[in-house]
Amino acid sequence: MADLTTSFLGVSSPNPFWLASAPPTDKQYNVERAFEAGWGGVVWKTLGEAGPPIVNVNGPRYGAIWGPDRRLLGLNNIELITDRDLEVNLREIEQVKKNWPDRAMIVSLMVPCEEEPWKNILKCVEQTGADAVELNFGCPHGMSERGMGSAVGQVPEYIEMVARWCKQHSDLPVIVKLTPNITDIRYPARAAKAGGADAVSLINTISSIVSVDLDSMAPEPTIDGKGSHGGYCGPAVKPIALNMVAEIARDAETRGLPISGIGGVTTWRDAAEFIALGCGTVQVCTAAMTYGFKIVQEMIAGLEAWMDEKGHAGIEDFRGMAVPNVTDWQYLNLNYVTKARINQDLCISCGRCHIACEDTSHQAITNMVDGVRKFEVIDEECVGCNLCVNVCPVDDCITMEQIAGVDPRTKKPIDPNYGNWTEHPNNPSVFKEAAE
Ligand SMILES: Cc1cc2nc3c(=O)[nH]c(=O)nc-3n(C[C@H](O)[C@H](O)[C@H](O)COP(=O)(O)O)c2cc1C
Ligand code: SF4
Ligand code: SF4
Repeated sequence: MADLTTSFLGVSSPNPFWLASAPPTDKQYNVERAFEAGWGGVVWKTLGEAGPPIVNVNGPRYGAIWGPDRRLLGLNNIELITDRDLEVNLREIEQVKKNWPDRAMIVSLMVPCEEEPWKNILKCVEQTGADAVELNFGCPHGMSERGMGSAVGQVPEYIEMVARWCKQHSDLPVIVKLTPNITDIRYPARAAKAGGADAVSLINTISSIVSVDLDSMAPEPTIDGKGSHGGYCGPAVKPIALNMVAEIARDAETRGLPISGIGGVTTWRDAAEFIALGCGTVQVCTAAMTYGFKIVQEMIAGLEAWMDEKGHAGIEDFRGMAVPNVTDWQYLNLNYVTKARINQDLCISCGRCHIACEDTSHQAITNMVDGVRKFEVIDEECVGCNLCVNVCPVDDCITMEQIAGVDPRTKKPIDPNYGNWTEHPNNPSVFKEAAE
């Protein structure tokens, strides 16, 4: 049986599944039940400075996007950091760590961008016996207007400065949680590393308005007739998170920097994808909020079964394996030619592939053959774009097949060797170089 034990920054956990800093990790009651269910670790809901507690809205704080089956695809929230007293949180963190010494206890922090508050809160956290801290430079709403959260995460110099303070004032491992609300994620990741951070975690939520109520003409969730942007998460954000993780994993300056992957992890497969792109652990929020703590049991069982099937004895066996296969467009093999293939035994003749290809692609799928409704690929027109595969409602009914020899569309022989845009004769810079 595969071993899911994880060691991240020297912090061990029985599996790579951590609950992300959010309502599931807001209190001892939640976290202990999460551990009973099997979660390997938690990042405690973000703590702020001592003083009057944070005030949240008292009306709806969530909006959502659903699929046609009402399955939750994206969740939007306008919640702030913890609104519970700092002392109470610290006491509970200490108690939970004592009760569950084998689980990872990470404490998320967000205080004003000044050295003293960071120094003070780090001392408080150290006394709890927590394993590490995560600096929340990500929340895009509420706290950012107060100069914290993503207001820090969007300025690499601030990230570096605060990370450095934290490393100076504490021996705890420091994870910097990044905001995706930025053009190029490599800059904040590099800044975190330059400041001495031991790891990055990403993504925090994406600035969003999920819907507008067309009766009240206000964004949702609506508080007394008004709404503000919130933070978007859940399955819908996974592609954005995977790309950002990959960017950091393959950047020459941050390669090897430990990453805790976050964003839409709902199944073991999602987790395996983040790990394949280099993550040492994954963090989960929306899936736990949607399906409850026990979802981790499916994640654990699924990941173990897949690892056994693939012969991976431990997480490190496949961590980062997909990173070398992430490249830039210009290095893709332009001599790799595919055509769509329709399995007539599976086809239910719905016609969606025909409409999609006819109206928006390359008119390469019939709807009628010899006067009979039939869907066949016309190789002379097919550019291999894969749109039909994605719109077909039947699994594996349309597949893409690599071809060799002469491409019936271009009528030219297919070069069996790898060839990319950097050397393509149509590339103006190649053309210019040849002329020089
Ligand atoms: C209601 C809610 C509250 C959150 N609060 C925090 C927070 O206090 N600190 C933090 O770093 N992230 C917070 N997050 C972001 C999550 O930790 C996580 O980064 C994000 O939800 C993406 O993961 P997911 O797609 O699994 O939900 C919050 C998310 C939600 C939905
Ligand atoms: S792969 Fe693209 S071009 Fe070819 S049949 Fe499908 S949709 Fe049409
Ligand atoms: S979309 Fe799929 S099922 Fe529908 S006609 Fe095309 S191949 Fe057949």
